[in-house]
Amino acid sequence: MTSVSAKLVDALAAAETVVVLTGAGASAESGIATFRDPDGLWEQFSPEELANVEAFLDNPTLVQGWYRYRQVAIEEAAPNAGHRALTRLEQLVPRFACITQNVDNLHQEAGTERVIELHGNIIRSYCIDCGEPHTLDASVAADDDPEPVRCDECGGLIRPDVVWFGERLPPDAIASANAWARDADVFLCVGTSAVVFPAADLPLEALDHGAYLADVNPDTSAVSGKAQVHLQAPAGEALPALVEAVAARINPEAA
Ligand code: APR
Repeated sequence: MTSVSAKLVDALAAAETVVVLTGAGASAESGIATFRDPDGLWEQFSPEELANVEAFLDNPTLVQGWYRYRQVAIEEAAPNAGHRALTRLEQLVPRFACITQNVDNLHQEAGTERVIELHGNIIRSYCIDCGEPHTLDASVAADDDPEPVRCDECGGLIRPDVVWFGERLPPDAIASANAWARDADVFLCVGTSAVVFPAADLPLEALDHGAYLADVNPDTSAVSGKAQVHLQAPAGEALPALVEAVAARINPEAA
């Protein structure tokens, strides 16, 4: 039985506004690799060669191929118990926002309504010249076609709708995320190393505005030490137990 923190349950049950920031760890139990864990993507692949616009313009076929490879893994994945617990928490509290660094669409697939995508979504792609939406067909393996995928309208290169290193986050998304962080009574970090900015500023912003900060991570992240509570367990274990306890606190009769 995963232990839950009574103080965190109290804070969540009394909260008007609950905000969650998720990272790759939230999808680890869905079989999607994280970035910086020992078996993470950045241990196997170099972000310099694959996740920035210069690399894309240098070798669009390689970068498109790599995103197709990730798309296949994501299309085969399903939301885990952690994603579903956050959907339930959204239904339990008055105001809720899930701010995600993930591009895998799994919060939406789990039924969470208010999802703020900071780093885009791998399911979407667009033409870098005319902006026309497109899909990068994951079924076509990179080595099947050395030619990069181009826009039917203008012939421009097609890129995934994700934020690459050195690029700005979508202004509306980061503005909304900051507003929610400032409003939060409870701010939950789930499965993020909290080392990539500006996303990693959000828990600190929430703390500065009086939020109760909790970190859900089997390992130690850059915010674990600043959090009032660190649930050192996988999200798929810690979150269902936590939300179950909050539900029992909010509706004792239903428990
Ligand atoms: N449950 C909760 N946390 C987990 C789990 C799990 N089952 N498994 C791993 N973790 C934790 C790890 O301990 C680590 O702290 O998830 C964290 C994942 O960290 P990163 O791999 O650095 O991923 P993230 O924080 O999302 O990276 C931020 O960096 O590469 C860019 O754009 C990319 O959005 C990404 C950003």
